[in-house]
Amino acid sequence: METTYVMIKPDGVQRGLVGEIIQRFERKGLKLVGLKSMVPSEEIAKKHYEVHSERSFFPGLIRFVTSSPVVCMAWQGRDAISVARNLIGPTNGRDAAPGTIRGDFGMDIGYNMIHGSDAAETAEFELSLWFPEGLMTWENTMGTWVYEG
Ligand code: RTP
Ligand code: MG
Repeated sequence: METTYVMIKPDGVQRGLVGEIIQRFERKGLKLVGLKSMVPSEEIAKKHYEVHSERSFFPGLIRFVTSSPVVCMAWQGRDAISVARNLIGPTNGRDAAPGTIRGDFGMDIGYNMIHGSDAAETAEFELSLWFPEGLMTWENTMGTWVYEG
């Protein structure tokens, strides 16, 4: 089983899309093992997006992501990282297929509502950054109807 870090960004919260977005992950069959909301500090936002620190959009990205609450989530399942990225869709909502979150709700690269880890190493780093307290361990009885074996 893989666990991925997913975060609804300030525009998703401001637009009232929290329930809609969480529902898509639930319906897919992923298991929620971490959930909380916060206004990110500049420190945590900069660490999260460190890989983009030399890019011209970095200062604006940090201002945006620290501007109001985000919803931090950890979702678990088989191939959870790629499954979540597929639910989310490509970075720019205008290029994203309908049916994906960005394809259904997004029109701008800077307002794409949601983040998802892009690889096993980034998931590990992001989960320990945003959930230093650890994640929940629980038995999801529905799982027997999601995976065949
Ligand atoms: P994320 O990390 O947020 O899940 O998004 P992503 O993998 O699809 O895209 P990434 O390349 O990692 O970029 C991180 C975030 O930076 C903003 N961005 N703005 N103005 C620009 O050219 C530009 N490029 C990227 C987006 O908000 C993107 O989600
Ligand atoms: Mg990324």
